Amino acid sequence: MKLLIANWKMNLVDHQNWLSSFDSNFNKSHINNSLKIIICPNFLQLADMSQKNSLSNRFIFGAQNVSENPPGAYTGEISVEHLLEIGIDYCIVGHSERRALGETDFIVKDKVEKLLSKKITPVICIGESFEIQKNNETKTFLLSQLELLLKDKNLNLNKCVFAYEPLWAIGKGIPADLSTIKTSISYIKKVFDEYNLSLTILYGGSVNEKNSSEILSVDHISGFLVGNSSLDGKEFANIAKNF
Ligand code: PGA
Repeated sequence: MKLLIANWKMNLVDHQNWLSSFDSNFNKSHINNSLKIIICPNFLQLADMSQKNSLSNRFIFGAQNVSENPPGAYTGEISVEHLLEIGIDYCIVGHSERRALGETDFIVKDKVEKLLSKKITPVICIGESFEIQKNNETKTFLLSQLELLLKDKNLNLNKCVFAYEPLWAIGKGIPADLSTIKTSISYIKKVFDEYNLSLTILYGGSVNEKNSSEILSVDHISGFLVGNSSLDGKEFANIAKNF
């Protein structure tokens, strides 16, 4: 199964316009049953869009974030139980933009645990900074981001999706070079193999309609987490056609 995830972040996206551009570029003949298209809008749009049959018949909906806490006195937060109430199937966890706001590996693990307990698939983001990459410390860093999760025998990681997103390639318009992507993805795959895990691994970082075919040809990549290029329905449709 391949996955194509749109992360709309905190952008203003008119979903009607988005949909008409998507539809004028993606017709019935392009439907690929081995591709799941997942849209992650902001929470307000998520509640609205996921409840419209015309949309939920065609797309899967995911959240960009969730609280690690149970329902209760946490002003401004959204719990896993709230996601469950509106039938959300996926949730991004540990995105670098959230890690920059203080989401630690411990918090990531708590979120993963809570999501799995409600059968919502966590999409766990990992990836190194430019500094780490420059100092040749990528593998050690990626392993450190995975360690807490891998060591918890109670977590069924086979139910998770991982996204390798080098921070220095996010929102830059230029993705990581193929050799870096290949090296990191095959390292992540090797670590998972050692733990007998067979996980879906995505790539994220400046994926667009022009570079997506080439990146998709890298071994063990099962799809993308797309930011900027998912904001335009036409471009996102063109990426979907490349699967
Ligand atoms: P980008 O974002 O496609 O704009 O680089 C990817 C992401 O942040 O997940």
